[in-house]
Amino acid sequence: MNRLALYANQLAHHLTITDNRTGKTIEVPISTSRESDFIHATKLGALQYQGQPLRVYDPGYMNTICCTSKISYIDGDKGILEYRGIPIEELAEKSTFVEVAYLLINGELPSKSQLQEWDEKLRKHTFIHTDASQMMKSFRYDAHPMGMLISTLAAISTFHPEVNPALAGEGVYKNQDIVNKQIYRILGSLPTIASNSFRNRIGREHNMPHENMSYVENFLYMLDKLNEKEYKPHPKITRALEVLFILHAEHELNCSTAFVRHLSSSGVDIYTAIAGAAGALYGPKHGGANEAVLRMLEEIGDLKNIPQFIKDVKDRKKLLMGFGHRVYKNYDPRAKIVKQIAYQVFEITGKEPLIEIAIELEKIALSDPYFIQRKLYPNVDFYSGVIYRALGFPTDMFPVLFTIPRVAGWLAHWKEYLNDKENNIVRPRQNYVGPEKRNYVPVDQRKEFPIYLESNKSSRQKRRETATLS
Ligand code: CMC
Repeated sequence: MNRLALYANQLAHHLTITDNRTGKTIEVPISTSRESDFIHATKLGALQYQGQPLRVYDPGYMNTICCTSKISYIDGDKGILEYRGIPIEELAEKSTFVEVAYLLINGELPSKSQLQEWDEKLRKHTFIHTDASQMMKSFRYDAHPMGMLISTLAAISTFHPEVNPALAGEGVYKNQDIVNKQIYRILGSLPTIASNSFRNRIGREHNMPHENMSYVENFLYMLDKLNEKEYKPHPKITRALEVLFILHAEHELNCSTAFVRHLSSSGVDIYTAIAGAAGALYGPKHGGANEAVLRMLEEIGDLKNIPQFIKDVKDRKKLLMGFGHRVYKNYDPRAKIVKQIAYQVFEITGKEPLIEIAIELEKIALSDPYFIQRKLYPNVDFYSGVIYRALGFPTDMFPVLFTIPRVAGWLAHWKEYLNDKENNIVRPRQNYVGPEKRNYVPVDQRKEFPIYLESNKSSRQKRRETATLS
């Protein structure tokens, strides 16, 4: 729809709202977009009562649009996902992760020379500062790789004070060269940080990036190279991971991407914003779901235990991890592709036994009224964990494998946010239901309220409590 038609449409469509507290009527224009029609929440503020504007209440942002974006499009009912208008299925079949990152961040597919330049710039930034590498070595042997990745990203912000708005001034990201540089640094170094976290876990030295391998191939190389002269990951495994990276690169305003915009709105540096978003992604309801799916499949352990597990889900004792989505009320288009990749990977690695449980679980869930009525379908995480397992990744590496590609989407949103004149610091309102104003009571005059203060105790703590103290 062109701009004039859009304007005419806006004039034609509006809500007429009468406030029965005051009798006041307002007309609120309805805007139209490809995804949904909407009204501007601030317009409702014109309905004032006792000096207070009318606000909207929406915990969990169930029905709230908080920005305008051109990066990805989802039709949750039809199961459609497009990056900059290009269907995910086409990208998964024909593109590479590096090209997709370019598309997401810059808005168009690159020409041959642009792709080459982009690729070279990312390669140049695969080396991380030796202090960062050294710092990573000081994590405990059993530290979760996401904990290492998040902390390292945040720490890297201290390596670049010249581009930190807190030190260099708020306008620092108005310089496009500086913005681009941070994009190259972050995207380029992510596989190195991620592979370092894995090498720590297996008690091996960090590998240096290879100068002549693709983004994904180099990641596999840094993870796995030992003392071989030449180490080259299997091309089919590289391609499978590449497709998984493409599928995970962007997904509009999910919890972590929304958080990048949220943090960026405060003016914080991009390293801290990306570290914060990685924290949001780490949660088991979001990017940690693939890890949670694997733990669930292991817990079920045998096909015969599935009926009891489904019963527990329906009795609300458990969640069927890898099922359900805030936006998709149909089969997640990414899940279909992931399921196909699983079999391609098994041709090389041998079949992962947990796939049988996953397939049976899906079959039962998709024919059960509980899941049908609630439109609960497998999401991207349902099968990705099984592939990662077949590829030999420890379960706690799964969210890391989600984070690396998702950083492309986060950086695309960061860049879009920086150029968006509509954006302001994110500052929601609350519905306060706490005590009315009251006075401070001195400690000896206070009534005691029953507040639960216990915390869990280890056996060691209990043993210590039996000791005589002096
Ligand atoms: N297992 C069992 N019941 C579920 C599940 C599930 N996985 N997901 C939703 N429901 C039920 C929920 O209890 C509710 O039932 P009722 O209406 O009777 O109260 C109904 O389905 C509707 O759910 P909802 O509360 O509207 O769903 P939501 O949009 O708030 O939550 C979700 C979406 C992804 C957090 C949730 O489906 C979930 O926790 N799924 C499991 C975790 C998971 O797989 N997460 C990965 C998401 S995809 C990757 C990403 O984008 O991060």
